[in-house]
Amino acid sequence: MMPRTWLFVPGDSEKKLGKGAGAGADALIIDLEDSVAAARRPIARELTCEYLRNADRSICQLYVRINPLDTTDALLDLTGIIAGKPDGLLLPKAETVEDSNRLSYYLDALEVANGLEQGAVKIFPLATETPGAMLTLGGYRKVNSRVSALSWGAEDLSAAIGASTNRDDDGELSAPYILARSLCLMAAHAAGVQAVDTVHPDFRDDAGLQRSSKHARRDGFSGKIAIHPNQVAIINEAFTPSKDEIAHAQAVIDLFAANPDAGTLSLDGKMLDKPHLTQALRVVAFANIDRS
Ligand code: COA
Ligand code: MG
Repeated sequence: MMPRTWLFVPGDSEKKLGKGAGAGADALIIDLEDSVAAARRPIARELTCEYLRNADRSICQLYVRINPLDTTDALLDLTGIIAGKPDGLLLPKAETVEDSNRLSYYLDALEVANGLEQGAVKIFPLATETPGAMLTLGGYRKVNSRVSALSWGAEDLSAAIGASTNRDDDGELSAPYILARSLCLMAAHAAGVQAVDTVHPDFRDDAGLQRSSKHARRDGFSGKIAIHPNQVAIINEAFTPSKDEIAHAQAVIDLFAANPDAGTLSLDGKMLDKPHLTQALRVVAFANIDRS
């Protein structure tokens, strides 16, 4: 099941963990990295593992963001929470696809040690958070089978390259971050995994969130990361095909089914060929995902 909304919840906050599952997101990302102060990480690992063990796993998928792989914190995160059997791990500041492979080897051992099924824990790299990562995104064409999704980020990348902001005078993303977004989108589709759009950090700006979610879906992302419960409904709606979209997609599918020998057809005065059928099938498949 491809989550539409991935809601971040700081792993050291009992209160927010308590609210997370009821927020309506298809997946939670319990954070052990940037939103948790270093001194709070030990307690965050304990709370996260406890939460994973006790959570009703039918409500939403539970991912955990560990620390960057070259840190001791990452190893403490892995050994501290794996017994809770997370559905997946978010891997921040991934430098190359090799980081996913290395994490996968760690997981091979940790799954055996904890009696988990091999390959049960998925990997979700944040693939554009460092300048070096931007130059190696093509590597995701040959991706480990644990990788389930890719996302991008503008905040860490702008800090890493010494930018004063990642927005232009109109508040829109500036060129380096549009590049990061586009490369992530292509890398995810080349890898055959879900493309997930990054956060809209201004969590009171509903109109801006609606706009960026709509643009993300238009461009080929199938979900988006949220940081606040109020963002969930807006993102869920933006990534759910509307009745009109489903009806149009079904009409395209029906027309091709009724004309099996036609390569190109017309509907409502517009030309249709193979890519339109592919698109229509995707809309109907997405609409039919059982989210109960
Ligand atoms: N998950 C679960 N609950 C959350 C939440 C989240 N991400 N963000 C806020 N809430 C809860 C709050 O605890 C508050 O609960 P209450 O009504 O019982 O007091 C309620 O939702 C309303 O929150 P609000 O007062 O509007 O926001 P805040 O000032 O408490 O928190 C943030 C703002 C940004 C600190 C908070 O949304 C947050 O921690 N987001 C996640 C940050 C994160 O993980 N970042 C890493 C990735 S970029
Ligand atoms: Mg970060």
